[in-house]
Amino acid sequence: MSEVVLSIADLEKMYAGGVHAVRGVSFDVNRGESVAIIGSSGSGKSTVLRCINRLIEPTAGVVKLGGEQINTPYADVNDIRSRIGMVFQSFELFAHLRVLDNITLGLRKVRGMSVEDANEIAHQVLGRVDMLDRIHAFPGNLSGGQKQRVAIARVLAMKPEVILFDEPTSALDPELIGSVLQTIRGLADEGMTMVIVTHEINFARDVADRIIYMDEGLVAEEGSSSIIENPKTERMQKFLSSINEEH
Ligand SMILES: Nc1ncnc2c1ncn2[C@@H]1O[C@H](COP(=O)(O)OP(=O)(O)O)[C@@H](O)[C@H]1O
Ligand SMILES: [Mg+2]
Repeated sequence: MSEVVLSIADLEKMYAGGVHAVRGVSFDVNRGESVAIIGSSGSGKSTVLRCINRLIEPTAGVVKLGGEQINTPYADVNDIRSRIGMVFQSFELFAHLRVLDNITLGLRKVRGMSVEDANEIAHQVLGRVDMLDRIHAFPGNLSGGQKQRVAIARVLAMKPEVILFDEPTSALDPELIGSVLQTIRGLADEGMTMVIVTHEINFARDVADRIIYMDEGLVAEEGSSSIIENPKTERMQKFLSSINEEH
């Protein structure tokens, strides 16, 4: 039986200034499932992810984690952010902290963990993303791909129930994309529950259990990887061929 971990219902976001970025999006994510969200720039993908972990508040709709509504004034935002990890295009590491301290900071400050326990977890998660050998480096001395793997390790350290990725490879030089995709693929194989916004269509097709195509603030198509082979709408066909031209 599949168990819904994350549920989004009738989500809408109207930004100050009147942009109706998300106009009624609903989808569920089951435990262990990887869902890829694809779509043109400006279609509302980042807005959906940001509403889920409450970086911004939706104008309407319900976000549930483990069956409980989390977009209410009563929900603890720090708790939500540790249960729903987020990986950004721009890494967001602390430049003045070594890799080790980037990972342990949240464990110590948010979880109140001892230095020894936090260090042990840091070693585990850095091993999982193949970055143990750079544990004492500063982010400035890492490649973009290495920074992103540290950012993923930092999220893993919090043992999240879901990880949201917002174009995790978009800021990387082409030769560095593969190592990050490989890391995310490994998490999918381990059964991590993930929502991945990506322009890497082949990756979405090969790794995601389900694909959501967003267009103008709505889910325009949704289904298995076969929707990439056989898009129903002209808009999605055009989007896919525009991506192919880029590569
Ligand atoms: N903070 C903001 N204030 C006003 N408009 C915004 C803001 N962030 C995004 N938008 C607008 O909302 C729409 C959707 O943006 P976004 O969610 O970033 O799309 P995507 O991630 O698919 O590129 C776009 O028209 C964008 O310009
Ligand atoms: Mg975006």
